[in-house]
Amino acid sequence: MEDNVTLIGFMGAGKTTVGQRLAARLSRPFVDVDAVIEARAGMSIPDIFAAEGESGFRRREADAVRRICREGGQVIAAGGGTVMDHGSLSLLRRTGPLVWLRADLEELLSRAAAEAERPRPLLTRPRADLQRLYAGRERIYGLADYVVDVSGKSPDEVADQVERLLTGHERPAPQRVPVRLDGRSYDVHVGSGLLDQAGSLCCQGGAFSKGLLITNETVGSLYGGLVQRSLSLAGLRVPRVDIPDGEQYKTLETAQRVYRAAVGHRLDRRSFFIALGGGVVGDLAGFAAATFLRGVALIQVPTTLLAQVDAAVGGKVGVNLDEGKNLVGAFHQPRIVIADVDTLRTLPKRQLAAGLAEVIKYGVIGDPDLLQFVEDRLDRLAAGDRAALLRIVARSCEIKAAVVAEDERETEGVRECLNFGHTIGHALEAAFGYEGMLHGEAVAAGMVAAAMLSARLTGFPEAEVQRLADLLQRAGLPAAPPPVEEAKLLTLIRRDKKTVDQKIRFVLAEQPGRWVVRDDVPDDLVLEIVREQRNRWASAK
Ligand SMILES: NC(=O)c1ccc[n+]([C@@H]2O[C@H](COP(=O)([O-])OP(=O)(O)OC[C@H]3O[C@@H](n4cnc5c(N)ncnc54)[C@H](O)[C@@H]3O)[C@@H](O)[C@H]2O)c1
Ligand SMILES: [Zn+2]
Repeated sequence: MEDNVTLIGFMGAGKTTVGQRLAARLSRPFVDVDAVIEARAGMSIPDIFAAEGESGFRRREADAVRRICREGGQVIAAGGGTVMDHGSLSLLRRTGPLVWLRADLEELLSRAAAEAERPRPLLTRPRADLQRLYAGRERIYGLADYVVDVSGKSPDEVADQVERLLTGHERPAPQRVPVRLDGRSYDVHVGSGLLDQAGSLCCQGGAFSKGLLITNETVGSLYGGLVQRSLSLAGLRVPRVDIPDGEQYKTLETAQRVYRAAVGHRLDRRSFFIALGGGVVGDLAGFAAATFLRGVALIQVPTTLLAQVDAAVGGKVGVNLDEGKNLVGAFHQPRIVIADVDTLRTLPKRQLAAGLAEVIKYGVIGDPDLLQFVEDRLDRLAAGDRAALLRIVARSCEIKAAVVAEDERETEGVRECLNFGHTIGHALEAAFGYEGMLHGEAVAAGMVAAAMLSARLTGFPEAEVQRLADLLQRAGLPAAPPPVEEAKLLTLIRRDKKTVDQKIRFVLAEQPGRWVVRDDVPDDLVLEIVREQRNRWASAK
Protein backbone atom coordinates (compact mmCIF):
# COMPACT_ATOMS: atom_id res chain seq x y z
CA MET A 1 0.00 0.00 0.00
CA GLU A 2 1.31 3.44 -0.86
CA ASP A 3 2.07 5.67 2.13
CA ASN A 4 -0.47 8.15 3.41
CA VAL A 5 0.70 11.58 4.50
CA THR A 6 -1.08 12.87 7.60
CA LEU A 7 -1.08 16.50 8.65
CA ILE A 8 -1.46 17.00 12.36
CA GLY A 9 -1.54 20.03 14.62
CA PHE A 10 -3.74 22.26 16.73
CA MET A 11 -6.82 23.98 15.37
CA GLY A 12 -5.95 26.96 13.24
CA ALA A 13 -2.73 25.38 11.91
CA GLY A 14 -4.22 25.13 8.42
CA LYS A 15 -4.33 21.35 8.12
CA THR A 16 -7.31 21.36 5.76
CA THR A 17 -6.17 24.17 3.46
CA VAL A 18 -2.59 22.94 3.31
CA GLY A 19 -3.82 19.37 2.89
CA GLN A 20 -5.92 20.29 -0.13
CA ARG A 21 -3.04 22.11 -1.79
CA LEU A 22 -0.59 19.34 -1.00
CA ALA A 23 -2.97 16.70 -2.37
CA ALA A 24 -3.32 18.69 -5.60
CA ARG A 25 0.45 18.95 -5.96
CA LEU A 26 0.97 15.25 -5.32
CA SER A 27 -2.12 14.25 -7.38
CA ARG A 28 -3.52 12.32 -4.45
CA PRO A 29 -6.97 12.19 -2.91
CA PHE A 30 -7.47 14.49 0.07
CA VAL A 31 -9.32 13.22 3.14
CA ASP A 32 -10.35 15.39 6.07
CA VAL A 33 -11.03 13.35 9.19
CA ASP A 34 -13.58 15.88 10.48
CA ALA A 35 -15.43 15.85 7.16
CA VAL A 36 -15.60 12.06 7.20
CA ILE A 37 -17.02 12.14 10.72
CA GLU A 38 -19.64 14.70 9.77
CA ALA A 39 -20.65 12.84 6.62
CA ARG A 40 -21.08 9.54 8.44
CA ALA A 41 -22.95 11.11 11.36
CA GLY A 42 -25.08 13.34 9.17
CA MET A 43 -24.44 16.07 11.75
CA SER A 44 -22.03 18.92 12.14
CA ILE A 45 -19.23 18.56 14.69
CA PRO A 46 -20.74 21.11 17.12
CA ASP A 47 -23.99 19.14 16.93
CA ILE A 48 -22.17 15.87 17.67
CA PHE A 49 -20.49 17.54 20.68
CA ALA A 50 -23.87 18.83 21.85
CA ALA A 51 -25.66 15.51 21.40
CA GLU A 52 -22.98 12.99 22.38
CA GLY A 53 -20.37 14.96 24.28
CA GLU A 54 -16.66 14.85 23.56
CA SER A 55 -16.44 11.12 24.27
CA GLY A 56 -19.08 10.41 21.62
CA PHE A 57 -17.16 12.54 19.16
CA ARG A 58 -13.87 10.77 19.94
CA ARG A 59 -15.48 7.37 19.34
CA ARG A 60 -16.67 8.51 15.94
CA GLU A 61 -13.25 9.96 15.24
CA ALA A 62 -11.41 6.71 16.02
CA ASP A 63 -13.85 4.87 13.79
CA ALA A 64 -13.27 7.35 10.95
CA VAL A 65 -9.50 6.91 11.24
CA ARG A 66 -9.84 3.13 11.02
CA ARG A 67 -11.86 3.47 7.84
CA ILE A 68 -9.53 6.03 6.28
CA CYS A 69 -6.43 3.96 7.04
CA ARG A 70 -7.73 1.05 4.99
CA GLU A 71 -6.62 3.02 1.93
CA GLY A 72 -3.17 4.28 1.04
CA GLY A 73 -1.85 7.09 -1.14
CA GLN A 74 -3.95 9.80 0.50
CA VAL A 75 -3.24 13.16 2.06
CA ILE A 76 -5.07 13.17 5.38
CA ALA A 77 -5.89 16.16 7.55
CA ALA A 78 -6.36 14.91 11.12
CA GLY A 79 -8.46 16.75 13.67
CA GLY A 80 -6.57 18.57 16.41
CA GLY A 81 -7.25 15.82 18.95
CA THR A 82 -7.25 12.83 16.60
CA VAL A 83 -3.72 11.74 17.46
CA MET A 84 -4.34 11.92 21.20
CA ASP A 85 -5.95 8.49 20.84
CA HIS A 86 -3.11 5.94 20.95
CA GLY A 87 -4.83 3.56 18.56
CA SER A 88 -5.54 6.24 15.96
CA LEU A 89 -2.05 7.69 16.27
CA SER A 90 -0.48 4.30 15.76
CA LEU A 91 -2.69 3.49 12.78
CA LEU A 92 -1.95 6.79 11.06
CA ARG A 93 1.75 6.51 11.79
CA ARG A 94 1.95 3.00 10.45
CA THR A 95 0.39 4.05 7.16
CA GLY A 96 2.93 6.80 6.51
CA PRO A 97 4.66 9.97 7.69
CA LEU A 98 3.05 12.47 10.04
CA VAL A 99 3.70 16.16 9.52
CA TRP A 100 3.11 18.61 12.36
CA LEU A 101 2.05 22.07 11.25
CA ARG A 102 3.35 24.07 14.17
CA ALA A 103 2.77 27.58 15.48
CA ASP A 104 2.47 29.32 18.84
CA LEU A 105 -0.81 29.00 20.66
CA GLU A 106 -1.58 32.72 20.39
CA GLU A 107 -1.18 32.70 16.66
CA LEU A 108 -3.22 29.53 16.29
CA LEU A 109 -6.07 30.94 18.32
CA SER A 110 -6.26 34.13 16.30
CA ARG A 111 -6.11 32.12 13.07
CA ALA A 112 -8.88 29.81 14.28
CA ALA A 113 -11.07 32.72 15.37
CA ALA A 114 -10.62 34.33 11.95
CA GLU A 115 -12.09 31.28 10.23
CA ALA A 116 -15.56 32.30 11.27
CA GLU A 117 -17.39 29.99 8.87
CA ARG A 118 -16.16 26.99 10.86
CA PRO A 119 -17.37 26.89 14.47
CA ARG A 120 -14.80 25.44 16.88
CA PRO A 121 -16.19 23.98 20.09
CA LEU A 122 -12.76 24.28 21.73
CA LEU A 123 -12.59 28.05 21.25
CA THR A 124 -15.19 28.58 23.97
CA ARG A 125 -12.89 27.15 26.65
CA PRO A 126 -10.99 29.39 29.08
CA ARG A 127 -7.47 30.40 27.98
CA ALA A 128 -5.72 28.52 30.83
CA ASP A 129 -7.51 25.33 29.75
CA LEU A 130 -6.37 25.80 26.19
CA GLN A 131 -2.78 26.35 27.30
CA ARG A 132 -2.84 23.09 29.25
CA LEU A 133 -4.43 21.29 26.36
CA TYR A 134 -1.86 22.64 23.93
CA ALA A 135 1.05 21.68 26.18
CA GLY A 136 -0.27 18.10 26.40
CA ARG A 137 -0.72 17.88 22.66
CA GLU A 138 2.70 19.30 21.86
CA ARG A 139 4.26 16.22 23.43
CA ILE A 140 2.45 14.04 20.92
CA TYR A 141 2.69 16.42 17.95
CA GLY A 142 6.42 16.65 18.69
CA LEU A 143 6.72 12.99 17.76
CA ALA A 144 5.66 13.68 14.18
CA ASP A 145 8.14 12.70 11.51
CA TYR A 146 8.40 16.24 10.19
CA VAL A 147 7.77 19.55 11.86
CA VAL A 148 6.91 22.55 9.73
CA ASP A 149 6.67 26.00 11.23
CA VAL A 150 3.66 27.67 9.66
CA SER A 151 4.01 31.11 11.28
CA GLY A 152 3.89 33.85 8.69
CA LYS A 153 3.68 31.38 5.80
CA SER A 154 0.94 31.07 3.20
CA PRO A 155 -0.75 27.68 2.72
CA ASP A 156 1.08 27.30 -0.59
CA GLU A 157 4.43 27.96 1.03
CA VAL A 158 3.67 25.38 3.71
CA ALA A 159 2.48 22.82 1.14
CA ASP A 160 5.63 23.45 -0.84
CA GLN A 161 7.84 22.84 2.17
CA VAL A 162 5.99 19.66 3.12
CA GLU A 163 6.47 18.38 -0.42
CA ARG A 164 10.19 19.12 -0.30
CA LEU A 165 10.52 17.31 3.02
CA LEU A 166 8.61 14.29 1.77
CA THR A 167 10.68 14.03 -1.38
CA GLY A 168 13.94 14.44 0.49
CA HIS A 169 14.75 17.79 -1.15
CA GLU A 170 14.84 19.47 2.21
CA ARG A 171 16.41 18.19 5.40
CA PRO A 172 14.18 17.81 8.44
CA ALA A 173 14.56 20.85 10.68
CA PRO A 174 17.10 20.46 13.49
CA GLN A 175 15.91 20.44 17.07
CA ARG A 176 17.64 22.24 19.91
CA VAL A 177 17.39 20.65 23.33
CA PRO A 178 18.50 22.86 26.21
CA VAL A 179 20.21 21.29 29.24
CA ARG A 180 19.53 23.68 32.10
CA LEU A 181 22.19 23.71 34.79
CA ASP A 182 23.17 26.46 37.16
CA GLY A 183 25.76 28.48 35.26
CA ARG A 184 26.64 25.55 32.99
CA SER A 185 23.63 25.35 30.70
CA TYR A 186 24.20 24.19 27.15
CA ASP A 187 22.32 23.08 24.08
CA VAL A 188 22.15 19.74 22.39
CA HIS A 189 21.67 20.29 18.66
CA VAL A 190 20.05 17.32 16.98
CA GLY A 191 19.74 17.36 13.22
CA SER A 192 20.64 16.09 9.82
CA GLY A 193 23.71 17.58 8.12
CA LEU A 194 25.00 19.27 11.26
CA LEU A 195 28.65 18.23 10.85
CA ASP A 196 28.89 20.82 8.09
CA GLN A 197 27.99 23.44 10.66
CA ALA A 198 30.31 22.14 13.37
CA GLY A 199 32.49 25.24 13.08
CA SER A 200 29.75 27.82 13.54
CA LEU A 201 28.10 25.77 16.26
CA CYS A 202 31.41 25.50 18.13
CA CYS A 203 31.71 29.28 18.02
CA GLN A 204 28.31 29.44 19.75
CA GLY A 205 29.80 27.24 22.46
CA GLY A 206 32.33 29.89 23.43
CA ALA A 207 35.06 32.22 22.24
CA PHE A 208 37.94 29.82 21.82
CA SER A 209 41.47 30.30 20.65
CA LYS A 210 42.35 26.83 19.45
CA GLY A 211 41.16 23.32 19.89
CA LEU A 212 42.06 19.68 19.60
CA LEU A 213 39.87 17.22 17.74
CA ILE A 214 39.87 13.82 19.40
CA THR A 215 38.47 10.92 17.45
CA ASN A 216 39.38 7.35 16.59
CA GLU A 217 40.66 5.76 13.38
CA THR A 218 37.24 4.53 12.27
CA VAL A 219 35.23 7.69 12.85
CA GLY A 220 38.13 9.97 12.01
CA SER A 221 38.48 8.51 8.53
CA LEU A 222 34.72 8.86 7.92
CA TYR A 223 34.03 12.30 9.37
CA GLY A 224 37.24 13.83 10.66
CA GLY A 225 37.97 15.75 7.47
CA LEU A 226 34.45 17.15 7.27
CA VAL A 227 34.56 18.43 10.82
CA GLN A 228 38.06 19.89 10.48
CA ARG A 229 37.05 21.70 7.30
CA SER A 230 34.02 23.19 8.97
CA LEU A 231 36.07 24.27 11.98
CA SER A 232 38.70 25.85 9.79
CA LEU A 233 36.05 27.74 7.77
CA ALA A 234 34.92 29.19 11.10
CA GLY A 235 38.48 30.35 11.73
CA LEU A 236 39.35 27.67 14.28
CA ARG A 237 42.68 25.87 14.01
CA VAL A 238 42.04 22.39 15.32
CA PRO A 239 44.61 19.65 14.85
CA ARG A 240 43.45 16.09 15.25
CA VAL A 241 44.53 13.17 17.36
CA ASP A 242 43.27 9.66 16.55
CA ILE A 243 43.07 7.16 19.36
CA PRO A 244 42.78 3.43 18.69
CA ASP A 245 39.23 2.09 18.30
CA GLY A 246 37.87 0.03 21.19
CA GLU A 247 36.66 0.04 24.78
CA GLN A 248 40.01 -1.48 25.83
CA TYR A 249 41.65 1.84 24.94
CA LYS A 250 39.46 3.90 27.26
CA THR A 251 42.37 4.12 29.67
CA LEU A 252 44.66 6.54 31.47
CA GLU A 253 47.41 5.64 29.00
CA THR A 254 45.28 6.83 26.10
CA ALA A 255 44.31 9.95 28.03
CA GLN A 256 48.01 10.62 28.43
CA ARG A 257 48.44 10.51 24.65
CA VAL A 258 45.77 13.17 24.39
CA TYR A 259 47.45 15.37 27.03
CA ARG A 260 50.75 15.07 25.20
CA ALA A 261 49.15 15.98 21.87
CA ALA A 262 47.55 18.99 23.55
CA VAL A 263 50.87 20.12 25.00
CA GLY A 264 52.55 19.52 21.64
CA HIS A 265 50.02 21.75 19.91
CA ARG A 266 50.43 24.40 22.64
CA LEU A 267 46.86 24.39 23.81
CA ASP A 268 46.11 26.69 26.74
CA ARG A 269 43.30 27.11 29.25
CA ARG A 270 41.16 28.94 26.73
CA SER A 271 41.40 26.06 24.28
CA PHE A 272 38.79 23.37 23.81
CA PHE A 273 38.66 19.66 23.14
CA ILE A 274 36.15 18.38 20.62
CA ALA A 275 35.22 14.70 20.83
CA LEU A 276 34.08 13.08 17.59
CA GLY A 277 32.95 9.48 17.98
CA GLY A 278 30.99 7.05 20.12
CA GLY A 279 30.81 6.88 23.89
CA VAL A 280 34.37 5.62 24.19
CA VAL A 281 35.83 8.68 22.47
CA GLY A 282 33.37 10.96 24.30
CA ASP A 283 34.16 9.57 27.74
CA LEU A 284 37.90 9.57 27.16
CA ALA A 285 38.16 12.98 25.51
CA GLY A 286 35.78 14.33 28.13
CA PHE A 287 37.96 12.97 30.92
CA ALA A 288 41.03 14.47 29.27
CA ALA A 289 39.18 17.81 28.97
CA ALA A 290 38.17 17.67 32.64
CA THR A 291 41.76 17.18 33.76
CA PHE A 292 44.05 18.90 31.23
CA LEU A 293 45.25 22.17 32.79
CA ARG A 294 42.62 21.45 35.49
CA GLY A 295 39.89 21.60 32.91
CA VAL A 296 39.36 22.95 29.41
CA ALA A 297 36.11 23.37 27.48
CA LEU A 298 34.57 20.31 25.88
CA ILE A 299 32.43 19.92 22.78
CA GLN A 300 30.77 16.61 22.14
CA VAL A 301 30.04 15.40 18.63
CA PRO A 302 28.56 11.94 19.23
CA THR A 303 28.37 9.58 16.26
CA THR A 304 26.75 6.46 17.70
CA LEU A 305 23.10 6.26 18.67
CA LEU A 306 24.14 5.35 22.21
CA ALA A 307 26.38 8.38 22.50
CA GLN A 308 23.78 10.71 20.98
CA VAL A 309 20.98 9.65 23.31
CA ASP A 310 23.03 9.04 26.42
CA ALA A 311 26.81 9.29 26.79
CA ALA A 312 27.33 12.76 25.28
CA VAL A 313 24.68 14.42 27.43
CA GLY A 314 24.98 14.86 31.17
CA GLY A 315 28.65 15.44 31.81
CA LYS A 316 29.81 12.05 33.04
CA VAL A 317 33.27 11.35 31.69
CA GLY A 318 35.82 8.75 32.63
CA VAL A 319 38.18 5.91 31.87
CA ASN A 320 38.40 2.24 32.80
CA LEU A 321 40.87 0.45 35.03
CA ASP A 322 41.78 -3.23 34.72
CA GLU A 323 39.67 -3.68 37.85
CA GLY A 324 36.50 -2.35 36.28
CA LYS A 325 34.76 0.05 33.94
CA ASN A 326 34.51 3.79 34.52
CA LEU A 327 36.26 3.60 37.89
CA VAL A 328 38.07 6.90 37.34
CA GLY A 329 36.13 9.88 36.16
CA ALA A 330 34.62 13.29 36.65
CA PHE A 331 31.57 15.40 35.98
CA HIS A 332 32.48 17.77 33.19
CA GLN A 333 29.60 19.24 31.21
CA PRO A 334 30.15 19.99 27.53
CA ARG A 335 29.65 23.52 26.17
CA ILE A 336 27.59 22.22 23.30
CA VAL A 337 26.59 18.85 21.88
CA ILE A 338 26.26 18.36 18.14
CA ALA A 339 24.35 15.19 17.29
CA ASP A 340 24.17 14.68 13.54
CA VAL A 341 21.87 11.74 12.80
CA ASP A 342 23.34 11.38 9.31
CA THR A 343 26.43 9.85 10.92
CA LEU A 344 24.28 6.93 12.08
CA ARG A 345 24.03 5.72 8.48
CA THR A 346 27.51 4.26 8.63
CA LEU A 347 27.04 2.76 12.06
CA PRO A 348 27.01 -1.06 12.09
CA LYS A 349 23.45 -2.40 12.57
CA ARG A 350 24.40 -4.11 15.77
CA GLN A 351 25.58 -0.81 17.27
CA LEU A 352 22.40 0.93 16.15
CA ALA A 353 20.29 -1.72 17.86
CA ALA A 354 22.37 -1.38 21.02
CA GLY A 355 21.62 2.34 21.07
CA LEU A 356 17.93 1.65 20.59
CA ALA A 357 17.99 -0.28 23.87
CA GLU A 358 18.68 3.00 25.70
CA VAL A 359 15.91 4.78 23.78
CA ILE A 360 13.50 2.02 24.74
CA LYS A 361 14.72 2.46 28.33
CA TYR A 362 13.71 6.13 28.29
CA GLY A 363 10.34 5.04 26.93
CA VAL A 364 9.73 2.56 29.72
CA ILE A 365 10.80 4.79 32.61
CA GLY A 366 9.69 8.16 31.37
CA ASP A 367 7.78 8.40 28.14
CA PRO A 368 5.18 5.90 26.90
CA ASP A 369 4.70 8.03 23.76
CA LEU A 370 8.35 7.57 22.83
CA LEU A 371 7.98 3.84 23.39
CA GLN A 372 5.03 3.77 21.04
CA PHE A 373 6.95 5.80 18.47
CA VAL A 374 9.78 3.25 18.49
CA GLU A 375 7.25 0.43 18.10
CA ASP A 376 5.54 2.16 15.20
CA ARG A 377 8.71 3.30 13.48
CA LEU A 378 11.10 0.44 14.21
CA ASP A 379 11.51 -0.60 10.58
CA ARG A 380 12.32 2.92 9.45
CA LEU A 381 14.69 3.43 12.36
CA ALA A 382 16.53 0.24 11.51
CA ALA A 383 16.73 1.39 7.89
CA GLY A 384 18.40 4.64 8.99
CA ASP A 385 15.47 7.00 8.29
CA ARG A 386 16.87 10.36 9.33
CA ALA A 387 13.53 11.94 10.24
CA ALA A 388 12.65 9.09 12.58
CA LEU A 389 16.16 8.97 14.05
CA LEU A 390 16.13 12.72 14.62
CA ARG A 391 12.90 12.39 16.55
CA ILE A 392 14.06 9.65 18.91
CA VAL A 393 17.44 11.26 19.51
CA ALA A 394 15.87 14.62 20.32
CA ARG A 395 13.21 13.14 22.57
CA SER A 396 15.73 10.97 24.39
CA CYS A 397 17.97 13.99 24.92
CA GLU A 398 14.99 15.92 26.31
CA ILE A 399 14.38 13.18 28.84
CA LYS A 400 18.03 12.89 29.80
CA ALA A 401 18.33 16.69 29.99
CA ALA A 402 15.38 16.88 32.37
CA VAL A 403 16.83 14.19 34.62
CA VAL A 404 20.31 15.75 34.60
CA ALA A 405 18.91 19.22 35.32
CA GLU A 406 17.29 17.86 38.46
CA ASP A 407 20.15 15.69 39.61
CA GLU A 408 23.40 16.68 37.92
CA ARG A 409 25.70 14.64 40.15
CA GLU A 410 23.47 11.71 40.94
CA THR A 411 22.97 12.78 44.54
CA GLU A 412 19.21 13.33 44.54
CA GLY A 413 18.17 9.86 43.47
CA VAL A 414 16.49 11.22 40.34
CA ARG A 415 19.29 10.30 37.96
CA GLU A 416 19.08 6.75 39.26
CA CYS A 417 16.12 6.08 36.94
CA LEU A 418 18.60 5.98 34.06
CA ASN A 419 19.87 2.71 35.52
CA PHE A 420 16.71 0.81 34.63
CA GLY A 421 17.93 -2.53 33.30
CA HIS A 422 21.52 -1.69 34.23
CA THR A 423 21.86 -3.57 37.53
CA ILE A 424 21.75 -6.93 35.79
CA GLY A 425 22.91 -5.37 32.51
CA HIS A 426 26.27 -4.30 33.92
CA ALA A 427 26.78 -7.73 35.43
CA LEU A 428 26.07 -9.40 32.08
CA GLU A 429 28.38 -7.01 30.33
CA ALA A 430 31.14 -7.94 32.75
CA ALA A 431 30.35 -11.66 32.51
CA PHE A 432 30.45 -11.84 28.73
CA GLY A 433 33.30 -9.47 28.12
CA TYR A 434 32.74 -6.20 26.41
CA GLU A 435 32.87 -7.72 22.97
CA GLY A 436 30.59 -10.72 23.60
CA MET A 437 27.68 -8.56 24.66
CA LEU A 438 27.48 -4.90 23.80
CA HIS A 439 26.32 -2.56 26.56
CA GLY A 440 22.93 -2.07 24.89
CA GLU A 441 22.45 -5.80 24.45
CA ALA A 442 23.22 -6.46 28.10
CA VAL A 443 20.86 -3.63 29.10
CA ALA A 444 18.13 -5.13 26.90
CA ALA A 445 18.27 -8.45 28.75
CA GLY A 446 18.60 -6.53 32.04
CA MET A 447 15.49 -4.47 31.28
CA VAL A 448 13.38 -7.54 30.68
CA ALA A 449 14.58 -8.97 33.99
CA ALA A 450 13.81 -5.66 35.71
CA ALA A 451 10.37 -5.57 34.10
CA MET A 452 9.67 -9.13 35.29
CA LEU A 453 10.80 -8.18 38.80
CA SER A 454 8.52 -5.18 38.55
CA ALA A 455 5.58 -7.36 37.59
CA ARG A 456 6.19 -9.38 40.78
CA LEU A 457 6.93 -6.50 43.13
CA THR A 458 5.23 -3.33 41.96
CA GLY A 459 2.24 -4.49 39.98
CA PHE A 460 3.79 -3.51 36.65
CA PRO A 461 1.41 -5.05 34.09
CA GLU A 462 2.51 -8.43 32.77
CA ALA A 463 1.33 -7.37 29.30
CA GLU A 464 3.94 -4.60 29.39
CA VAL A 465 6.69 -7.14 30.13
CA GLN A 466 5.74 -9.09 27.05
CA ARG A 467 5.47 -5.89 25.02
CA LEU A 468 8.98 -4.85 26.05
CA ALA A 469 10.46 -8.26 25.24
CA ASP A 470 8.72 -8.31 21.85
CA LEU A 471 9.99 -4.86 20.96
CA LEU A 472 13.57 -5.63 21.98
CA GLN A 473 13.56 -8.82 19.97
CA ARG A 474 12.13 -7.07 16.94
CA ALA A 475 14.98 -4.57 17.28
CA GLY A 476 17.48 -7.44 17.15
CA LEU A 477 18.24 -7.31 20.86
CA PRO A 478 18.21 -10.19 23.34
CA ALA A 479 15.22 -10.46 25.70
CA ALA A 480 17.13 -12.96 27.85
CA PRO A 481 20.81 -13.41 28.66
CA PRO A 482 22.96 -16.31 27.49
CA PRO A 483 23.46 -19.06 30.10
CA VAL A 484 25.37 -17.65 33.05
CA GLU A 485 26.56 -19.26 36.26
CA GLU A 486 24.28 -18.06 39.05
CA ALA A 487 26.89 -17.48 41.74
CA LYS A 488 28.99 -15.49 39.29
CA LEU A 489 26.00 -13.39 38.26
CA LEU A 490 25.23 -12.48 41.87
CA THR A 491 28.85 -11.61 42.60
CA LEU A 492 28.98 -9.37 39.57
CA ILE A 493 25.68 -7.69 40.43
CA ARG A 494 26.99 -6.94 43.92
CA ARG A 495 30.14 -5.42 42.52
CA ASP A 496 28.08 -2.81 40.69
CA LYS A 497 29.01 0.75 41.55
CA LYS A 498 25.42 1.41 42.52
CA THR A 499 25.47 -1.09 45.34
CA VAL A 500 25.21 0.75 48.66
CA ASP A 501 26.05 -1.06 51.94
CA GLN A 502 25.99 -4.40 50.13
CA LYS A 503 22.34 -3.80 49.17
CA ILE A 504 21.66 -4.28 45.50
CA ARG A 505 19.59 -1.46 44.08
CA PHE A 506 17.07 -2.13 41.35
CA VAL A 507 15.21 0.49 39.38
CA LEU A 508 11.78 -1.00 38.80
CA ALA A 509 8.92 0.18 36.62
CA GLU A 510 5.58 0.79 38.32
CA GLN A 511 3.47 1.82 35.39
CA PRO A 512 4.65 2.67 31.90
CA GLY A 513 6.46 5.97 32.45
CA ARG A 514 6.78 5.65 36.26
CA TRP A 515 9.61 4.09 38.24
CA VAL A 516 10.78 3.35 41.78
CA VAL A 517 14.04 2.15 43.39
CA ARG A 518 14.03 -1.00 45.52
CA ASP A 519 16.94 -2.34 47.56
CA ASP A 520 15.04 -5.24 49.11
CA VAL A 521 14.95 -7.68 46.22
CA PRO A 522 16.02 -11.10 47.53
CA ASP A 523 18.87 -12.83 45.68
CA ASP A 524 16.71 -15.91 45.20
CA LEU A 525 14.09 -13.92 43.42
CA VAL A 526 16.67 -12.38 41.08
CA LEU A 527 17.93 -15.83 40.14
CA GLU A 528 14.44 -17.22 39.78
CA ILE A 529 13.51 -14.38 37.43
CA VAL A 530 16.60 -14.85 35.26
CA ARG A 531 15.83 -18.58 35.03
CA GLU A 532 12.25 -17.88 34.03
CA GLN A 533 13.42 -15.23 31.61
CA ARG A 534 15.71 -17.72 29.91
CA ASN A 535 12.89 -20.24 29.67
CA ARG A 536 10.63 -17.73 28.02
CA TRP A 537 13.07 -16.00 25.69
CA ALA A 538 16.19 -18.15 25.65
CA SER A 539 18.62 -16.69 23.19
CA ALA A 540 20.80 -18.84 21.01
CA LYS A 541 23.98 -16.97 21.96
N1 LIG B 1 29.20 9.12 30.01
C1 LIG B 1 28.06 8.52 30.04
O1 LIG B 1 27.08 9.02 30.61
C2 LIG B 1 27.92 7.22 29.36
C3 LIG B 1 26.66 6.66 29.17
C4 LIG B 1 26.57 5.47 28.48
C5 LIG B 1 27.71 4.85 27.99
N2 LIG B 1 28.92 5.42 28.19
C6 LIG B 1 30.14 4.79 27.67
O2 LIG B 1 30.06 4.77 26.27
C7 LIG B 1 30.86 3.70 25.79
C8 LIG B 1 30.12 2.96 24.71
O3 LIG B 1 29.84 3.86 23.67
P1 LIG B 1 29.38 3.36 22.22
O4 LIG B 1 28.32 2.37 22.36
O5 LIG B 1 29.13 4.57 21.44
O6 LIG B 1 30.65 2.54 21.70
P2 LIG B 1 31.94 2.98 20.91
O7 LIG B 1 32.34 4.36 21.20
O8 LIG B 1 32.93 1.91 21.13
O9 LIG B 1 31.45 2.91 19.39
C9 LIG B 1 31.06 1.67 18.86
C10 LIG B 1 31.81 1.37 17.55
O10 LIG B 1 31.23 2.14 16.49
C11 LIG B 1 32.24 2.87 15.80
N3 LIG B 1 31.59 4.08 15.32
C12 LIG B 1 31.24 5.16 16.03
N4 LIG B 1 30.53 6.01 15.28
C13 LIG B 1 30.45 5.46 14.06
C14 LIG B 1 29.82 5.86 12.85
N5 LIG B 1 29.10 6.98 12.78
N6 LIG B 1 29.94 5.07 11.78
C15 LIG B 1 30.63 3.91 11.86
N7 LIG B 1 31.21 3.46 12.98
C16 LIG B 1 31.12 4.24 14.06
C17 LIG B 1 33.31 3.06 16.83
O11 LIG B 1 34.55 3.32 16.22
C18 LIG B 1 33.26 1.73 17.57
O12 LIG B 1 33.98 0.76 16.85
C19 LIG B 1 31.22 2.86 26.99
O13 LIG B 1 32.57 3.09 27.31
C20 LIG B 1 30.32 3.37 28.08
O14 LIG B 1 30.91 3.26 29.35
C21 LIG B 1 29.04 6.57 28.85
ZN1 LIG C 1 23.38 2.39 29.50
